[in-house]
Amino acid sequence: MALLEIVLEGDPRLRQKATRIRTVDDGLRKLAADMHETMLDAPGVGLAAPQVGIGRRLIVVHVPADYAEQGDPETTLTLVNPEIIKAQGSVVGQEGCLSIPGWVGDVPRADAITVKAIGLDNRPLRIKAHDFLARVLQHEIDHLDGILYVDRVEDKATLLRVPDDEEVEGPVVDEREEAGRERERHQREALGVGVGD
Ligand code: NI
Repeated sequence: MALLEIVLEGDPRLRQKATRIRTVDDGLRKLAADMHETMLDAPGVGLAAPQVGIGRRLIVVHVPADYAEQGDPETTLTLVNPEIIKAQGSVVGQEGCLSIPGWVGDVPRADAITVKAIGLDNRPLRIKAHDFLARVLQHEIDHLDGILYVDRVEDKATLLRVPDDEEVEGPVVDEREEAGRERERHQREALGVGVGD
């Protein structure tokens, strides 16, 4: 396995629509393994092939146990040609992206989704996800269409700078979210904007 270089915003490869994968072969399995290693090293909870400069429809996800909420199981996924076939509800949450280091922002996403994909064994998969995992999947699938989370931020005032050691991919949770709100409060105060509005 090998660590891959993560492509940063401004690189045209992040803006191209990735192509569908016809068959899962050993080359693709190697790419998926390298992407998992790169994601874990970053660290991030998800990574899409265009983020390592590969315009193919492949994403990897790894959410550690208890990451978003106590009791949540560990989730590791490798999805080929993932497609959202059902989406319900809407919820706003904070996200970051390994391709946009140093920033987070509030993004509206569907609350519950069903994703259809192919696994590394070439078999069809169907995944139902809600809350945190649904957000991760929507963020990563967007990458396959050249969409970055910043495109979906409705209130640009929620875009906040974070220290480099807080870089994330996908949703931001727990103490990071708290820290974000705290920073926002300080920013608003500094700008003379009312708090709590
Ligand atoms: Ni991202």
